[in-house]
Amino acid sequence: MDQAEQKRRAADAALEYIEPRLTPNTIVGVGTGSTTNLFIDALAAVRHKFDACVSSSVASTERLQAHGITVLDLNAVDRIEVYVDGADEVNADRQLIKGGGGALTREKIVAASADEFVCIVDESKVVDVLGRYPLPVEVIPMARGLVARALVGLGGSPEWRQGFTTDNGNIILDVHELKITHPADLEARINNIVGVVTNGIFAAQAAHVVLVAGQSGVRRI
Ligand code: 5RP
Repeated sequence: MDQAEQKRRAADAALEYIEPRLTPNTIVGVGTGSTTNLFIDALAAVRHKFDACVSSSVASTERLQAHGITVLDLNAVDRIEVYVDGADEVNADRQLIKGGGGALTREKIVAASADEFVCIVDESKVVDVLGRYPLPVEVIPMARGLVARALVGLGGSPEWRQGFTTDNGNIILDVHELKITHPADLEARINNIVGVVTNGIFAAQAAHVVLVAGQSGVRRI
């Protein structure tokens, strides 16, 4: 089974996981990326069973709306029962690196607003120690040099994701060569650098459940 099929199975497993809880009042939070796109497509089949979605990116909003699913502004909802999103890396404590698609800030906001964060990945995303995947950091454009120098001071090797602007009008620095043995500490330290909007470590707020699709089926972390 190839990676694309594993992503599809993870997406289907997420729908199976949340479907029993859907009611006409349920708001579903939706992330961003190729795995989440497959979840959006699966969610469309049950759109009559829930109220609406809150989305973490312009791209996901457009995909949801193309399926006829209502997308609400986060400030217009009181409660998000569940948030479903992919990840670039996952460890055994359900801590993540996210932001490969550049949507990390809105993803973190919607995840923080939800009662439960269900992360969906294929087996290739599971690691012992976070950091093999370059850590995305969203930065206010004028602070690019200042933040890059601070990241070098933390042992990283930042690379400007050229030609990319986030939905919030900012830039991304992808930080290589970080061995993230204490994810919550590093998440807080990077967020404390002036000019950083947020970084792609999800440790202070890890996923509640990770559905990992591999060769032998879907398992839970
Ligand atoms: C986007 C993300 C994605 O969830 C992450 O990049 C995984 O993407 P994919 O499902 O395409 O592998 O964090 O900002």
